Amino acid sequence: MDAPNPFHASSPQAAAISTVFGWALLAMAVVVAIVAILVVYASIRFHASRVHADPAPGRQRRWPEIAWTIAPAVMLLALFVLSAWGMRVSDPPSAPGAPDVVVVGHRWWWEYQLPARGVVTANELHIPVGRRLLLEVRSADVIHDFWVPQLARKMDATPGHPTRIWLEASAPGRYLGTCAEFCGAGHAWMRLLVIAEPPAAFDAWLAALAGAAAAPGGAEARGERRFRELACATCHAVGNGGPAIGPDLAHLALRETLAAGALPASREDLARWLADPQRYKPGALMPNFHLSHDDLDALVAYLWRR
Ligand code: CUA
Repeated sequence: MDAPNPFHASSPQAAAISTVFGWALLAMAVVVAIVAILVVYASIRFHASRVHADPAPGRQRRWPEIAWTIAPAVMLLALFVLSAWGMRVSDPPSAPGAPDVVVVGHRWWWEYQLPARGVVTANELHIPVGRRLLLEVRSADVIHDFWVPQLARKMDATPGHPTRIWLEASAPGRYLGTCAEFCGAGHAWMRLLVIAEPPAAFDAWLAALAGAAAAPGGAEARGERRFRELACATCHAVGNGGPAIGPDLAHLALRETLAAGALPASREDLARWLADPQRYKPGALMPNFHLSHDDLDALVAYLWRR
């Protein structure tokens, strides 16, 4: 996966944040340069070997006092106006309305609900390019923070206090994000991926998620039975609106990674993950069930069917 580049804004909201950051950085650089030059100048000009007495009181001037009061005030006012503009562009409306996507932070993965389409999925979110989506950010347990640097501002996922942000991508692409608030052992493996694609591809993704997976047969049917018997279904839904303690596992084969970025997604990696989750994601709430080879094969067959 490509590393996210916060300096390469790919949405109007991220571009506004990037502009505010750029101008603030420039202002700070100018101030640091002026102060550094004055320090060097003063330490040479007023070195002890050259100056033998304090200046007489009558020689103090008023204009430097006025200058270093007005200049910072002007600079702060400019930064205030710039920040207010950046917030206006990147913040969502205060008016209520149904969100396009509800994001729920869990230890340690992301749940996405698209209520209008009846779709629930995890960790990877597809969006139509060029369309501004309203996201509602929630938490199921502790404070997380939803952050896709190239697309949107950071937004805390606070338990009991839903918040909203815009999510938009100006160009098709794969945008990496992460949880930006330390939330426990699995914090570093709380990655997310936003895939911006043309509307037709987005609709195809939605249709694939909304459709029923092929009816399980053979080893898959045995896997479905073992999924229930081993109590996997206590934590995981499989497209059936069940519990969301762990990610919904419907259409798992459509994803690019497993366990919120801890492993690539393939049959083999799924088997590796099921055999020893803690090895790949220390602290993950998924226990090691010490599965037999037969169970492992059956569960992979069931979860990976397309
Ligand atoms: Cu969730 Cu850090």
